Amino acid sequence: MLRPISFVFFLFNLLSLITITTSTPPYIADENITVNCGTSVNSKAGDLREWVGDIGSKFAPTEDLNHKSNASRAQIQGSAEYVPYMTARLSYFQFTYVFQVTPGQKFVRLYFYPASYSDFDRSKGFFTVKAGSFTLLRNFSASILADSLKKQTFVKEFCINVEKNQKLNLTFIPFSSNYYAFINGIEIVSMPTDLYYRPQGFKGEVPLYVGQASHQFYINYNMALEMVYRLNVGGGLISSVEDTGTFREWSTDRDYMLTGGFLPRNLSFIPNYSKIQNYTAPDDVYRSAMSMGPNISKNMVSNLTWGLPIDTGFNYLVRLHFCEIEPLIKFDGERVFIIYIDYQVAEERADVISWTDSNDTPYFKDYVVMIQKKGEDNHTLSIDLHPRTDGTLRDAILNGVEVFKLSNTDGNLAGPSMVPPLLDQQQPANKSSTKKTIFIAIGSGVGFLVVLTLVCSMVLWKSKKNKRFGSYHPQPKWRCWPYPYKQKLTRTKASSLPEVRCRYFTLDELKTATNNFNEELIIGVGGFGNVYKGVIEQGNMTVAIKRLQPESQQGAQEFRTEIEMLSQLRHVHLVSLIGYCNYESEMILVYEYMTNGTLRHHLYDTDNDPLTWKQRLQICIGAARGLHYLHTSTKHPIIHRDVKTTNILLDEKWVSKVSDFGLSKMGLDNIAVSTLVKGTLGYLDPDYARRQQLTEKSDVYSFGVVMFEVLCARKVLNQRLQEEQRNLASWAKKCIERGTISQIIDPYLTDKMAPECFKVYVELAESCVRDQGVQRPTMNDVMEKLEFALELQENANITKDVNVMEKLEFALEFKENADMTKDINSEEVSLIHATSTSSAPWYNNVYNGQVLESTSGTELTTINSGLSYPGQS
Ligand SMILES: *[C@@H]1O[C@H](CO)[C@@H](O)[C@H](O)[C@H]1NC(C)=O
Ligand SMILES: *[C@@H]1O[C@H](CO)[C@@H](O)[C@H](O)[C@H]1NC(C)=O
Ligand SMILES: *[C@@H]1O[C@H](CO)[C@@H](O)[C@H](O)[C@H]1NC(C)=O
Ligand SMILES: *[C@@H]1O[C@H](CO)[C@@H](O)[C@H](O)[C@H]1NC(C)=O
Ligand SMILES: *[C@@H]1O[C@H](CO)[C@@H](O)[C@H](O)[C@H]1NC(C)=O
Repeated sequence: MLRPISFVFFLFNLLSLITITTSTPPYIADENITVNCGTSVNSKAGDLREWVGDIGSKFAPTEDLNHKSNASRAQIQGSAEYVPYMTARLSYFQFTYVFQVTPGQKFVRLYFYPASYSDFDRSKGFFTVKAGSFTLLRNFSASILADSLKKQTFVKEFCINVEKNQKLNLTFIPFSSNYYAFINGIEIVSMPTDLYYRPQGFKGEVPLYVGQASHQFYINYNMALEMVYRLNVGGGLISSVEDTGTFREWSTDRDYMLTGGFLPRNLSFIPNYSKIQNYTAPDDVYRSAMSMGPNISKNMVSNLTWGLPIDTGFNYLVRLHFCEIEPLIKFDGERVFIIYIDYQVAEERADVISWTDSNDTPYFKDYVVMIQKKGEDNHTLSIDLHPRTDGTLRDAILNGVEVFKLSNTDGNLAGPSMVPPLLDQQQPANKSSTKKTIFIAIGSGVGFLVVLTLVCSMVLWKSKKNKRFGSYHPQPKWRCWPYPYKQKLTRTKASSLPEVRCRYFTLDELKTATNNFNEELIIGVGGFGNVYKGVIEQGNMTVAIKRLQPESQQGAQEFRTEIEMLSQLRHVHLVSLIGYCNYESEMILVYEYMTNGTLRHHLYDTDNDPLTWKQRLQICIGAARGLHYLHTSTKHPIIHRDVKTTNILLDEKWVSKVSDFGLSKMGLDNIAVSTLVKGTLGYLDPDYARRQQLTEKSDVYSFGVVMFEVLCARKVLNQRLQEEQRNLASWAKKCIERGTISQIIDPYLTDKMAPECFKVYVELAESCVRDQGVQRPTMNDVMEKLEFALELQENANITKDVNVMEKLEFALEFKENADMTKDINSEEVSLIHATSTSSAPWYNNVYNGQVLESTSGTELTTINSGLSYPGQS
């Protein structure tokens, strides 16, 4: 007797067996290799295919005899209990799978489950995968990718053409001897010749090169493709067994659809493959679609938009699938629309019926679009459909999207390198700190409420945000924030990108960037070494490259840990660390380039135009914010220790940013030091010098000195002056006491400062340089007082050189925040969906702008809070 549960299971198996065996797919792959890596056992996977264990089989990888790879089971149980994720092949050395396959185009699918395997730490899987001359993945971390996808396992799919007498070699190369490469499963499936490749001489339509005036783009056999998106628009997930015979998986588009849409119909009609091959896509792709809906006036002022995050620096093949599924639309000229890809017109006049002659007839269109590298690695590919006024319906439709990355001329498909995880990474003591916070918070009722409110609003904000932006960033960000995500679709805040890491540069890359550390490119010199101006990203991005002198060296390990920590600090008023290089004795830091140099070089002994008083105030406010962030954003305050006008840099918009934070702690700075006390003379906190106890208030002292330097435009220590006047801080203090401070200010500022503003400023600066730390304000107080001073100045309205741009820049930060909330709250995405099997009567009334109940009684719903699809909550 079968127990009920196993009976059901049995039935289920039988059913799936029946569905699979009874429907012959339109295409039968002559090559269908599935290799289960790291095991000797053959097993059936969920798709009923037999996965061959590589151990002892003809698929066993070739490797150096001295460096055998390991086979191992995943240590985390219950999460990947299915083939081929249960086992993996792992090695600290290169290994190669060699497949003898028939010539032709193949799908190559790589299955990864980044878990901890015995002796193989999850985070240390870091490697490159090559297929013959193609680089499929480079300096790649499966765990970083999985984490950013919020998935335990994932598959990477590639298309490769194998020439006659060629073998298909897949080589796995660890990043270095401290990192390993691994793979759980490999799948090789042949595909119809005309599925995606469009070589020269192809009989049929060849993709149009978008933006290149009706040029065609050939997908030649010497190219490899990487599948980036394959979406069943308006429909649900289609699993690999439900595909047309090549085991492609189709996902839903709902995470990528940016505007509301309307599901015109969802019927189980039999598509009529009179125009394209029946293996192009599963029937279900054509049975579901998205359109704009009945409101013509609304349609004419909006787009049907999908946003797909991709890497820059590649050509992409974009395949759009169409099928007119509305039975009432039968003639040319009814549903006519424009297709934009990446904000460029790809199709001036899309009219599905004119392509197919009838409805229920699938069709597809291919476009290739070049996504240039413009200093950033991430880009959101936008697909916009907009109804044309000459169509009667004023609507658009889309049934499916496929996006492939095309290999470069050098056979590369890999995106930006990820940063290798640190060896023996120190675990941040997050857990205990959380506990502590909660404990303290509970201890004081008010605090608890505050924390609760904060947590709640964060959760709310996040969930709201997720509705619109949610999995809108499924691709990991390897780059440091803030990268200028300028695209209109992407609005990101640092906090929403916890996975952000800093980039690792090779020494060669940096040599190229600086013309082999050419002396002419030196923009700064100091005790730590030289700073070079360099260009990366094929000359598209300027950076500052700080090459530390070997003498200032410390343990490479410590260096990396420190850099890793510093790269986590992201603030608009901190100079961003873009990446680093740590190769043999070299330690190099790569920072964002600050066009306007140091604050010091705009104050005195310079040919630069003097800064206006308001500019100076804004620069001080920015620097104060940056320091405040350092003091408060991490568990232990980060004390800069070397606040001075040469460490406050100005970007092209005169936004001030604090640089060199964290370095003094590492002994990597340009500091004239007494044996124990570090700091720059003139800025050095006397209290710290005396007691040798460092606190945030030491930075406050130095900041006070900076404020006087900004006000007086003179050196903080000038040995040429009389004894009394040499040290700016003590001289300013004396002048304040004597009431003569206005006599020592920068002559340029005379008459340009509002008296109230001046007063607040001077009082604040004076309080910063008080003798004892406890008497000084916090950076937060400083920030607020400075903002107040600026307000006074603006109200007084005596500045003759009001610069509108300045005001704009300054307000930008606040505005951005405001915009963000506004977007989420105000933009209600409405989607009307009909689950009725017959929405035709409804659609019939579209032209009158009326909404009728559907006849079958199933609801026509309007959802205002986000996208929802029938049958998928
Ligand atoms: C697909 O089309 C081919 C002819 O192009 C035909 O022989 C085959 O039966 C069709 N398969 C299915 C499942 O419709
Ligand atoms: C693939 O590997 C085999 C065995 O290692 C080697 O003989 C062959 O040259 C390789 N082919 C290519 C295209 O790399
Ligand atoms: C159609 O859209 C416009 C503009 O968005 C809106 O003002 C109008 O109320 C809508 N009409 C209907 C019937 O929903
Ligand atoms: C639709 O998208 C195109 C291309 O991105 C853009 O130029 C156009 O302004 C958009 N139209 C509307 C109404 O949003
Ligand atoms: C991976 O990164 C290392 C160090 O940055 C570099 O030496 C190597 O060339 C990179 N690998 C590839 C395939 O680019």
